[in-house]
Amino acid sequence: MQKQDIDRILAELDALSCKTQKEVEEARVRFLGKKGSITALFDEFRTVDKDLKKEFGRPLNELKQTAQTKIESLKESIGGEGAAEVPGIDMSMPGDTMELGSRHPVSIVRQEIVDIFRKFGYDVAEGPEVEDDYHVFEALNFPPNHPARDMQDTFFVSSGHPNPLLLRTHTSSVQVRTMEKMGLPIRVICPGRVFRNEAISARAHCIFHQVEGLYIDENVTFADLRQAILLFAREMFGPETQIRMRPSYFPFTEPSAEVDVSCNICHGKGCNICKGTGWLEILGCGMVDPNVLEASGIDSKKYSGFAFGMGLERIAMLKWRVNDLRHYFENDMRFLEEFATSVKEF
Ligand code: PHE
Repeated sequence: MQKQDIDRILAELDALSCKTQKEVEEARVRFLGKKGSITALFDEFRTVDKDLKKEFGRPLNELKQTAQTKIESLKESIGGEGAAEVPGIDMSMPGDTMELGSRHPVSIVRQEIVDIFRKFGYDVAEGPEVEDDYHVFEALNFPPNHPARDMQDTFFVSSGHPNPLLLRTHTSSVQVRTMEKMGLPIRVICPGRVFRNEAISARAHCIFHQVEGLYIDENVTFADLRQAILLFAREMFGPETQIRMRPSYFPFTEPSAEVDVSCNICHGKGCNICKGTGWLEILGCGMVDPNVLEASGIDSKKYSGFAFGMGLERIAMLKWRVNDLRHYFENDMRFLEEFATSVKEF
């Protein structure tokens, strides 16, 4: 046994580098295995005489220690079994980032409207999408076979009995349910999805969203309605916004009106969005018909109220100048990503 044997193996260990776990294992066998070079030195050591034992005992043990430490550290630095063996995979590359989604324009507008009416003291109520005829029509002063039912092309779920199930055509049904169970005064908005059997086009869809509102108390007048709508329009479309009301007809309100806001794009001068009129139609409203109050057990001599309803897709179209309603339902990422910057909070 000679000192050079130990030095040679130390130098080999020092120069040792491995690329795979397989190579590390081979190196371990070469140095420390049954027939390994270090094991061979230990075998030889057993046969040398006492003086040499004293001289070589310690360096030999240190050599074994160095070899074990080196093999361990190579094993760890190469990582998981086989990972680095796969060609073309660079483990040092940065990982994929997570794409953050954005809110849908309809839900952004819905939240804005809810926030505005919350500030005015309105609660939010929701109700079923599959409704009965009573809550969608009858309680809202649409008598059976009344032609006004044709104004709303209804999808029926069941038929053949006096109160068939149907997909609600407006969220006024939630207002009826609110009148039935909430104490007076009532100040509520009802956002939700509604369904009408319409041919799908750039301006119409068979599924859309509404926010309807209802305010019932003593001495509620048309002036209160006008003021509520004006304040809402200014919060929604800017402080300069003007409104105008045109007479209209709904079975559940009398008098009824359609509301236009001044076009916030051309400021009344006339452009292709407002079709040269300077005005954009945004909602329908009116004073709740006494028949509707009475149908839900409210004394129409003591109480009066107003109601309004608007389509969210239409408001979003005006806000972002979307020219085709179908964009809202097609889930085209190029369209949806446009709204990522509009999200104030998730
Ligand atoms: N429910 C009506 C619609 O869907 C809108 C409306 C609500 C009109 C309340 C007047 C009052 O068309």
